[in-house]
Amino acid sequence: MKIGIIGSAHVAQTVGGKLVQMGHDVVLGTRDPSKLDNKKGGGGTLRDWLGAHPSGRVATNAEAAAHGDLLINATNGDGAINALTLAGAQNLAGKVLIDISNPLDFSKGMPPTLFVKDSDSLGELIQRTFPDAKVVKTWNTMTADVMINPALVHHGDHTIFVCGNDEGAKSAVSDLLKTLGWHDILDLGDLTAARGTEMLLPIWIRLWGTLRTGNFQFKIVR
Ligand SMILES: NC(=O)c1ccc[n+]([C@@H]2O[C@H](COP(=O)([O-])OP(=O)(O)OC[C@H]3O[C@@H](n4cnc5c(N)ncnc54)[C@H](OP(=O)(O)O)[C@@H]3O)[C@@H](O)[C@H]2O)c1
Repeated sequence: MKIGIIGSAHVAQTVGGKLVQMGHDVVLGTRDPSKLDNKKGGGGTLRDWLGAHPSGRVATNAEAAAHGDLLINATNGDGAINALTLAGAQNLAGKVLIDISNPLDFSKGMPPTLFVKDSDSLGELIQRTFPDAKVVKTWNTMTADVMINPALVHHGDHTIFVCGNDEGAKSAVSDLLKTLGWHDILDLGDLTAARGTEMLLPIWIRLWGTLRTGNFQFKIVR
């Protein structure tokens, strides 16, 4: 599948790398594709990523979005609307847009707060701004290594949430998740559920500090 990832840092590199390994045609998007040697957040350099994934490509956000039949937003919550605006509303229209971003506000240090919550969410904000995209919120409640390898934690016996307003888009995303080894894919309904999944971040961050690893997961027992 042709996949465009809006983002170039740890999550984009991790998810994009796995999708390349699985045979997908992946383009990572960034504001300045000429800066291949800058370390990207928690990720490595894009030159190293390209070396490890020769069939992957790095391009502008607009080129990545135009390339993908399926799109992934893996940008900083604060920059997501700007990154997707640079990607171009016309390049998002009619396409499934997986949103992994979280509305974390680090302006007052650690732990971050959420810059949107309770009665709204970043997923909904993205959907309102780009009404022709089919936003599906998923993957945002776990660390990047677990997104692509659920077996890393408790033999993969744990839960991933999906929500979105388009049933076909959620079904397509669930099919992709299954190819990555996900079994317990819990559909929480429309995109208002992103309020809840984004509001899991404060407890996720607390657990990360307590357990001193990101390799843990939520499991919904029922
Ligand atoms: N790290 C994890 O394991 C993890 C787990 C779950 C969810 N998430 C969420 O996934 C998202 C990505 O996380 P990350 O750790 O990979 O990296 P990050 O540092 O949160 O985000 C870096 C990306 O955001 C883009 N960006 C930042 N500010 C921007 C702006 N003003 N305008 C346009 N683009 C901007 C950067 O684009 P350029 O390439 O143009 O610089 C880069 O691609 C975040 O929302 C995070 O909360 C992360």
